[in-house]
Amino acid sequence: MNLIMKMLAAPATVLALWAATAQAAPNDEIAKRLEPVGQVCVQGKECKGMEVVASAGGGAAKTPKDVIAKHCNACHGTGLLGAPKIGDKAAWKERADHQGGLDGILAKAITGVNAMPPKGTCADCSDDDLKGAIKEMSGL
Ligand code: HEC
Repeated sequence: MNLIMKMLAAPATVLALWAATAQAAPNDEIAKRLEPVGQVCVQGKECKGMEVVASAGGGAAKTPKDVIAKHCNACHGTGLLGAPKIGDKAAWKERADHQGGLDGILAKAITGVNAMPPKGTCADCSDDDLKGAIKEMSGL
């Protein structure tokens, strides 16, 4: 056998062995190996590693900070277009006082008012998600 043949033969043997062991593996072992790629996430069941997808896609609970960072901060961070600024409790309180408290301004946030878009652009936010964000921004 010349050198080239030897070099080809060695990997071929390894491959053949690998193929044999792969085929010998029981089905559930193969399934386990495939899991990280082909994992199916059934709603209502715990799904490890899928939390990020779930929170990005809506439905799962959002933290007020997430909602603010993703949706509200764009305007409320700087007071853009006359939006009450995050942390400016007096500005938020004045609005709340004129509109029946936190639930009053929540209602406006849901429907939108002037330059304030409906739900502050967080279309998949629940009322509670929005309320949490408003509480966090206003300190009320
Ligand atoms: C495109 C800019 C913009 C975004 C994004 C935005 N807001 Fe606003 N928001 C405004 C403006 C402007 C006002 C003031 C509207 C007015 O009174 O004329 C406002 C007012 C409000 C008010 C007071 C409403 C009232 O009755 O006085 C609440 C509550 C509020 N926003 C909540 C939110 C929440 C919660 C988010 C994120 C989910 C958000 N906003 C995102 C621009 C924005």
